[in-house]
Amino acid sequence: MAVISLEKITKRYEHIQAIHGIDLHIEDGEFVAFVGPSGCGKSTLLRMIAGLEEISGGLLRIGDEVVNHLEPSEREIAMVFQDYALYPHMTIAENIAFGLKMKNNDREDTRQRVEEIAKMLQLSHLLARKPGQLSGGQRQRVAMGRAIIRRPRAFLFDEPLSNLDAKLRVDMRIQIKRLHALLKTTTIYVTHDQVEAMTLADRVVILREGRIEQVGTPMEVYNHPVNKFVAEFIGSPQMNMLEVEVQQLTGGPVLKFGRCEIPLRSVEAEHGTRLLMGIRPEHLEPPRFGVRSERIPLPALADVIEPLGSDTLALCRVEEQELTARLTPGRVSQPGDFVELSIDPAQIHLFDDNGALVPFTHLDGGLHTPFLYSAEYSQQQIARHS
Ligand SMILES: Nc1ncnc2c1ncn2[C@@H]1O[C@H](COP(=O)(O)OP(=O)(O)O)[C@@H](O)[C@H]1O
Ligand SMILES: [Mg+2]
Repeated sequence: MAVISLEKITKRYEHIQAIHGIDLHIEDGEFVAFVGPSGCGKSTLLRMIAGLEEISGGLLRIGDEVVNHLEPSEREIAMVFQDYALYPHMTIAENIAFGLKMKNNDREDTRQRVEEIAKMLQLSHLLARKPGQLSGGQRQRVAMGRAIIRRPRAFLFDEPLSNLDAKLRVDMRIQIKRLHALLKTTTIYVTHDQVEAMTLADRVVILREGRIEQVGTPMEVYNHPVNKFVAEFIGSPQMNMLEVEVQQLTGGPVLKFGRCEIPLRSVEAEHGTRLLMGIRPEHLEPPRFGVRSERIPLPALADVIEPLGSDTLALCRVEEQELTARLTPGRVSQPGDFVELSIDPAQIHLFDDNGALVPFTHLDGGLHTPFLYSAEYSQQQIARHS
């Protein structure tokens, strides 16, 4: 097992700079996911760590050792690919054992390790078969077994589940997580799927055009995105972005859109500045049963309704803009319905034209008169606004 550290790592292909100076420290035993849109450099970065791609600049350390010029086999790390790369003419047992056989490992020890790993991955009953006789999920587990048997210092995964169907992907995700809990081997997992990254990793590294946008635990990047790109990339359905105008009034600043006004204590933007206000779909539902709150009522008209069972997604029109709300089933039943939405200023994010975060402070309970949320109140609001 090992720490992996990247210091100012760059990669230049002939005409493009694919990676622009990445600094990252991965702890021993940590599970880190690289996530970002297609082409952002995830595979390039992973392949440089594996030794399959030359590093153009910077230092890569595994353990205490600089490994920039070591061959892949000398790095003692194992890579699991999307296209399982199994040997079709060998049995599953032979495929799993392959790495050890190449090292002339003791036969009895190899046999024991294959059995142990097959048990761990629920492959024991398939050891005599050939890869062609296995399902996609089973083949993926064999590929993992082949990596595990070598007892590498780290596992590198490049979109290992993208060829599997949705249900199997969820099963495999759980398997991978369980395996990591068991083996505690440092793991780097590349995916374009933010759900996979969030559910698997201790820390998520969000990449864009060869640069790190943010590194944090899943909850950190979800609750405190550092810019608009991260705010929109993490979370599904994605964070709503409403256009608002800052008004610095004598009574304090407000964010204005249409006839709605959200009072703040302070915001680092001049009077008249247009900003984007981010708010997650699940933060738009008014709390039930008259909870005292600082929430600002938002009169909305349902446009498209998507019942998911556990909750309902409602695409709504609010003051000439669109947003998606995640609601308790029953809150809204058909398109054209008025929906009671509300915004808690503590749950918004503000971004400028460049997508950078704009700092602000919301009102504390002491300064702002709380109101008791009620159906009558929101209906009055809707009546007033329509
Ligand atoms: N062998 C290569 N030669 C030239 N450009 C490449 C090569 N491999 C990747 N790239 C480019 O580097 C960038 C990052 O690619 P990649 O790491 O594959 O992205 P991702 O895995 O995030 O989808 C892309 O612009 C891609 O076109
Ligand atoms: Mg890739």
